[in-house]
Amino acid sequence: MINQKLTIAVQKSGRLRAESFKYIELLGLNCDESSRDLLSRCTGSQVTVLSVRDDDIPEYVLKNVADLGIVGANILAEKGLKLKKVKKLGFAKCSLQIAIPKDSKISSVNALQGARIATSYPNLLRKFLDEKAVSASIITLAGAVEVAPSLNLADAVCDLVQSGKTLKENGLKPLVEIFKSEAILISNPKK
Ligand code: PRP
Ligand code: ZN
Repeated sequence: MINQKLTIAVQKSGRLRAESFKYIELLGLNCDESSRDLLSRCTGSQVTVLSVRDDDIPEYVLKNVADLGIVGANILAEKGLKLKKVKKLGFAKCSLQIAIPKDSKISSVNALQGARIATSYPNLLRKFLDEKAVSASIITLAGAVEVAPSLNLADAVCDLVQSGKTLKENGLKPLVEIFKSEAILISNPKK
């Protein structure tokens, strides 16, 4: 049981939330997952859970608004912020993949040369393409990346895949995995 005053940032809603609360419970804390409050105090402790967008968790920890955060390794790698990776948590395993329409002529990474690739992860995608010496045009979107090919905005996408359901529903198939991810516990190294 944690006795000190502490704030833990967790995802407001989405794949990380339920497992994040299970992990917090394992630490001996009793927190209400169903609470919609921005800040929610765990019963009988000085620990507060801050529920925010997962993409913003690294920033909250960096600015010391939260002492700890539970976030996907994909987000941390994309942001490139200097945070301490305290522990890999072993849940929310997924990967960042480049995917193409089922009937695409693209059949290899090299064939992405000159292609338009939509993603919310421009930094990780650029790093991968640079390593492969492929020059492609990166279209950065905040969400709904998987619809870009059907709207002829992109020839491929680079998006997070867990079950593969989203790709399938949008007539896409994986081409290559560029980053493996899971939930990690982060803290500010200066604290
Ligand atoms: C990711 C991704 C897909 C979905 C893939 O979004 O953008 O929409 O998950 O999962 P699946 O393979 O199981 O279908 P995420 O839930 O991370 O949403 P966010 O980017 O808005 O946080
Ligand atoms: Zn998110």
